[in-house]
Amino acid sequence: MFCKFVALALFISGFCSTVFSQTQAVDSEGHQWWQHAVFYEIYPRSFMDSNNDGIGDLNGIASKLDYLKSLGVDAIWITPCYPSPQVDFGYDVSDYENIDPMYGTLADFDRLQQEAKTHGIRIIMDFVLNHSSDQHAWFIDSRSSRTSAKRDWYMWHDGKGSAEPNNWVSTFGGSAWTMDFKTGQYYYHYFYPQQPDLNWRNPAVHDAMFDVTRWWYKRGVAGFRLDAVDTLFEDPELRDNPVLPGLNKYGDPNETDLYNTKLPEVHVVLRDLRKVADENNAVLIGETWTKDVNELKQYYGDHSNELQMPMDFMFTKVDRLSPPEFRRQIAAVDSAGGWPVFVLSNHDIVRSYVRYGDGQNNQAIAKLMAALYLTLRGTPIMYYGEEIGMQNTDPVRKEDVKDPIGRVGWPQEKGRDGERTPMQWDDSPNAGFTRGTPWLPVPLIYKTVNVASELKDPSSILNVYRSLLALRHQNRALLDGDYVALNENDPNVLSYLRRYKNEAVLVVLNMSSQPQQVSFDLAPQGFDGKTARSLLTTMATGSQAGSVSHLSLEPFSVYIGAVSK
Ligand code: GLC
Ligand code: CA
Repeated sequence: MFCKFVALALFISGFCSTVFSQTQAVDSEGHQWWQHAVFYEIYPRSFMDSNNDGIGDLNGIASKLDYLKSLGVDAIWITPCYPSPQVDFGYDVSDYENIDPMYGTLADFDRLQQEAKTHGIRIIMDFVLNHSSDQHAWFIDSRSSRTSAKRDWYMWHDGKGSAEPNNWVSTFGGSAWTMDFKTGQYYYHYFYPQQPDLNWRNPAVHDAMFDVTRWWYKRGVAGFRLDAVDTLFEDPELRDNPVLPGLNKYGDPNETDLYNTKLPEVHVVLRDLRKVADENNAVLIGETWTKDVNELKQYYGDHSNELQMPMDFMFTKVDRLSPPEFRRQIAAVDSAGGWPVFVLSNHDIVRSYVRYGDGQNNQAIAKLMAALYLTLRGTPIMYYGEEIGMQNTDPVRKEDVKDPIGRVGWPQEKGRDGERTPMQWDDSPNAGFTRGTPWLPVPLIYKTVNVASELKDPSSILNVYRSLLALRHQNRALLDGDYVALNENDPNVLSYLRRYKNEAVLVVLNMSSQPQQVSFDLAPQGFDGKTARSLLTTMATGSQAGSVSHLSLEPFSVYIGAVSK
């Protein structure tokens, strides 16, 4: 009787589906698929061009699934490939339920999805939920008159006299308000004027956007990367943001985005999106720019009921190889209670090869950084090209800039073209990306920095990534082990243990340009064996199997070994 009652209550509250999806664990400890997966971000314009128009496409991605599989990728996040005027290269969506012809068709998408599935690779779509394109049918209707059916789907306000409704500036430069002369009101856009913000306080917008997620789940996608989640809500009173001294790189006054970002209402939407994701065994990844771990924590939700994977961008802010700084970041994230999501690069940030490199040892440093984020507890999200050590190729002349912020902010802000150049596949013209003219230039270094050449070189960055990912996939301690910091006062070498029951993996990263000697006492961690069995090292001098109490490290080298009781 009681059971029946409980069953009925669960059913009515819609709990059944949640319980169902949560039982789809990949191991007896309840881990979900995304906790053991390696994610890889693909910028579709730049990955592989199948029809030689110079722009990458879905069929191009499909042709590289074997490569992705053998690299060790389990899920790809494709940045927006929906119909779009491409003002922000796809982040201005004019139809959420279709594919832009430059990238292919829905049939191509379905084929990609099927082929990815047979490769064991899931697809994550990018959901641009804060704003649409100004060419979306919703906005065209919305701006057509003050009384149009969709007027309230966007943020329309009267000016203050002849001025904008308030002092908010767009993060891409200029006022965040654009006057629509036909209807005599301003609309709000946190990004470009061609990216009007949707009005998330309107239930019709909420419903329409939720339907979009269901539509893609039905097509088989495994989740979404939620674009710019911070920006969904704005202060209803439109209070002015506090102004700070000085001007930013676009010449606008510096402001704190107090009243137009990170409003608490965001979390209500995230909780609702999560319910739908759970019904579909899907994962939600967040573009969560947070200033510290306390902010990051909020995105997991008080009851782990918001984002499963809020991205931790804090590594991207550490601009030098500083073991104490990385140690602090890792410890903070590790103790936050959620499942960490480490990111080194993406399509908005200068490539990690350049950011962490010292100009002389960049190859070794790229391997070092790979070893760091691929051996930590949590799920890594890679960025295409990182695995071969692609560099930034920034435009040298303003007239060559494609990304509009690079024209507005030139020369201080050169835009994001540099980190979005075509993937370098081989040493044939245009690095094998296209036989047409690539939409962004391929740097000459492609002759040596490319997938085909690096596959042949056992010590290439690519082969280090492949080995690390292979190790990560089969090693229980790397997948699920605790993170235990070691030698915490060492200013040069970052070391830790990943400990899982009776097994442990020792990770030692020399972040300095000098050889280093390290010594570990692992007895307090329950591992009193004196030697480690080498699993991976980037040292020229070979395996270094060795003594845990006396390990010699070459400059910027990696040592990973298994230790036992
Ligand atoms: C996110 C995207 C970025 C885009 C912006 C506006 O930050 O990563 O590329 O320009 O949102 O959609
Ligand atoms: Ca193409």
